[in-house]
Amino acid sequence: MSPAFDGSSGPADIEGSPLHAAFQQPLILGLFLPIQNGGWSISTLPRGTDWRFDYNARLTKQAEALGFDLVFGLAQWLGKNGHGGQMKYREQSLDAFIATSALAAITERILLISTVHALYGPWHPLHLAKFGATLDHISNGRWGINLVTGHVSTEWAMFGQPMIEHDERYARAAEFVGVLDTLWRSDANLTIRTPRWQLDDAFVSPRPRYRRPVLVNATGSDAGIDYAVRHSDLIFITSPAGADFDDAIGALPAHTAKIRDGAARVKRSVRTLINPTIVCRPTEREAHAYRDAIVAHADEGALDGFVGQGRRSDARAWAKHKREQRILGGNLHLIGSPEQIVDKLVALKRAGCDGVQLTFFDFEPDLAYFGEAVLPLLVEAGLRRDFAGSNSLHTTT
Ligand SMILES: Cc1cc2nc3c(=O)[nH]c(=O)nc-3n(C[C@H](O)[C@H](O)[C@H](O)COP(=O)(O)O)c2cc1C
Repeated sequence: MSPAFDGSSGPADIEGSPLHAAFQQPLILGLFLPIQNGGWSISTLPRGTDWRFDYNARLTKQAEALGFDLVFGLAQWLGKNGHGGQMKYREQSLDAFIATSALAAITERILLISTVHALYGPWHPLHLAKFGATLDHISNGRWGINLVTGHVSTEWAMFGQPMIEHDERYARAAEFVGVLDTLWRSDANLTIRTPRWQLDDAFVSPRPRYRRPVLVNATGSDAGIDYAVRHSDLIFITSPAGADFDDAIGALPAHTAKIRDGAARVKRSVRTLINPTIVCRPTEREAHAYRDAIVAHADEGALDGFVGQGRRSDARAWAKHKREQRILGGNLHLIGSPEQIVDKLVALKRAGCDGVQLTFFDFEPDLAYFGEAVLPLLVEAGLRRDFAGSNSLHTTT
């Protein structure tokens, strides 16, 4: 058989699935885990942010206790010194797949999304189908894949593979995920034939609890969006106009509408998540002072390395982000008092973003302050609700 992805139903359609629960929230809330040293900010201002597992495990539990819907880990392949500079930015980097697997065993409710470069190396869809089904069971339906195609030429070189052309990569990803989905849905042995994959009497058991694990893609290009609206539950989007909030808020309505329309054309609906960096302090003045201190400690060497990666990448999603915006990092900057942050989150929701996946400079205290000062205001603004049967916003488990 030639497998096709069945986009007509997935975990979001099944009441009781963790993804269905997350989708009941007016604004989905995620945390971008700093499993790479430096997280998203290329600054040497002292902070506690740490790539190590224990730190990220604490953050995940903190996010879960605050009622966050998901945590996410990115995957990348860098050489010695990472992006360089004093920080050796992102030289230390936990694998997202393994890290989220370990998190499954120490959490109860939060979704765990890990990035996989499905086209690198010897990833076989049968491996990923089996690993994913296993993780789905360990996590009780909370595990998902951000399936990306690899936009950096030096990463392909590390694997000894020629880089595949941008749009062709999405065609290969569709083929790969079609095999995955077919294996996850079948309770019989399958013989599968695609241009690249031949499986004889292949079988995966246990099957995932809610049809399949959560599927995510991170993109901004036309080919990527076309892939993502057909094969994903969630799309991680970037601001098409750079990280400045006013620029972004002007450009996002058309961008999110394009994704919604693309999904409607294939009779699906997907949710969009953007990843802002939040700099929040009791007053606007203090928040700007905090941002200024972060920026004043820019690690220029690491910044050169990170921005230089752009020359080895064909990603279209980050094209408008300026060099100086990379110091604070993330794809959108939200800076201000708790009230101002809530206003900006309300504006993002109105601009068509279904959720946000947050990064912070100093994750542990900044997340704690967000939980204490911003979350209650988000509830008041109607962006977060405490739905029956789930852990409440303020419950610690
Ligand atoms: C929130 C977010 C997370 C991402 N995570 C990863 C990642 O972990 N690994 C990776 O290689 N690329 C990651 N990307 C980058 C996308 O894969 C990259 O933008 C990709 O090349 C999309 O390109 P396109 O816009 O040209 O389709 C991420 C992008 C976003 C917005």
